Amino acid sequence: MKTITEGKAKIQTHTARIVSKEMPVFYNPKMEFNRDTSILVLNAIDKKNLQIGLPLAGSGVRAARFLLELKKEKIKSIKINDHSPDAVKLIKKNIEINEEGLICEDIEVSQLDANNFLLDSVGFDYIEIDPFGTPNPFLDSAVKRISRGGIIAATSTDTAPLCGTYPKTCKRKYFAAPIRNEHMHEAGLRILIRKAQLIGAQFDKALIPIFSYSKDHYFRTYFRCEKGKTRVDNIISEHKYFLYCTKCLNYNISSYNKQECCKKLMDFAGPIFTGKINDSSLIKKMKADDKFIQTILEESKINLPFFYDIHKIAKKYKIGIPKTDELISRLKKAGFKASKTHFNIYAVKTDASIEKIIKIMKK
Ligand SMILES: C[S@@+](CC[C@H](N)C(=O)[O-])C[C@H]1O[C@@H](n2cnc3c(N)ncnc32)[C@H](O)[C@@H]1O
Ligand SMILES: [Zn+2]
Repeated sequence: MKTITEGKAKIQTHTARIVSKEMPVFYNPKMEFNRDTSILVLNAIDKKNLQIGLPLAGSGVRAARFLLELKKEKIKSIKINDHSPDAVKLIKKNIEINEEGLICEDIEVSQLDANNFLLDSVGFDYIEIDPFGTPNPFLDSAVKRISRGGIIAATSTDTAPLCGTYPKTCKRKYFAAPIRNEHMHEAGLRILIRKAQLIGAQFDKALIPIFSYSKDHYFRTYFRCEKGKTRVDNIISEHKYFLYCTKCLNYNISSYNKQECCKKLMDFAGPIFTGKINDSSLIKKMKADDKFIQTILEESKINLPFFYDIHKIAKKYKIGIPKTDELISRLKKAGFKASKTHFNIYAVKTDASIEKIIKIMKK
């Protein structure tokens, strides 16, 4: 065990040469950014007096950071849970170490199965699903216990099926076909979002993504949950397919998964959620100077699914590679929407067609 500092919290953690779920209590320093974003999101939303539920709390690092770093009056109560007895001991210890300066006194720690913890509760305004692998086993209970307008934050490290390494597994677990090319991360994230939305839809709850990204080995989405049949219908109407031509690198979104381009059937992924995955007004309020979040903000303003990989286009069409910023400014000058994307540093999101992009790249 050693004591580390993350954000404003001092935390006792187990150490391991390789971070894995075999650790007595799981703590992954690489997920600090993930935890940072939850603090940024919660501080940026207008709501106060939140009832927070952490069903899979691990070392309690996120809970301690919430209690130290969220704005005063943000938290009404916080319930911290893990099924591991070692984790529960450590959570209690870590809350105790940080006792000074906690913004809320209504703190409960429990050792239950995450689904029982959620279902036995009166409900939460914020539920954090931070599992090993897929959030699937916990989505149903989270959807049932999230309040109107509440937020479900879900992490998935189950990227191999979602990114097309195991397409059959993806179909089985996420009811959709993945794709294995430069679009696999965005497609995987959008498959995951749709899967969660289908669980919400069963209960007439619309899961609206407000902040979503793909980073390192994981996907992350914050959903605002709204009740109502029409809202759910609107979400479902944005469940479509992503089609991609391996010959000319053209892509589009369609309600059908069969389409021809260059005289051959296009590859496809889906169904996926093709709507907005980031709320630019929320991200602005997060006031993060982090470059990665700034890129998400930039792409959220133009709100276009998928992108063009400049390196791939340059190689295919034997054109010199322009700087990403340079190409974006040329596209904008030509009257198109264009931005960088956090999914790929050598790519642009734009409403220009592949032909137009090639023309502009050749200039
Ligand atoms: C990825 S770790 C959580 C990390 C933590 N949220 C953080 O930010 O450091 C997943 C945790 O879920 C716990 N867990 C796994 N399955 C569970 C279940 N069915 N019910 C309750 N806890 C569970 C594990 O013991 C582990 O501590
Ligand atoms: Zn084509």
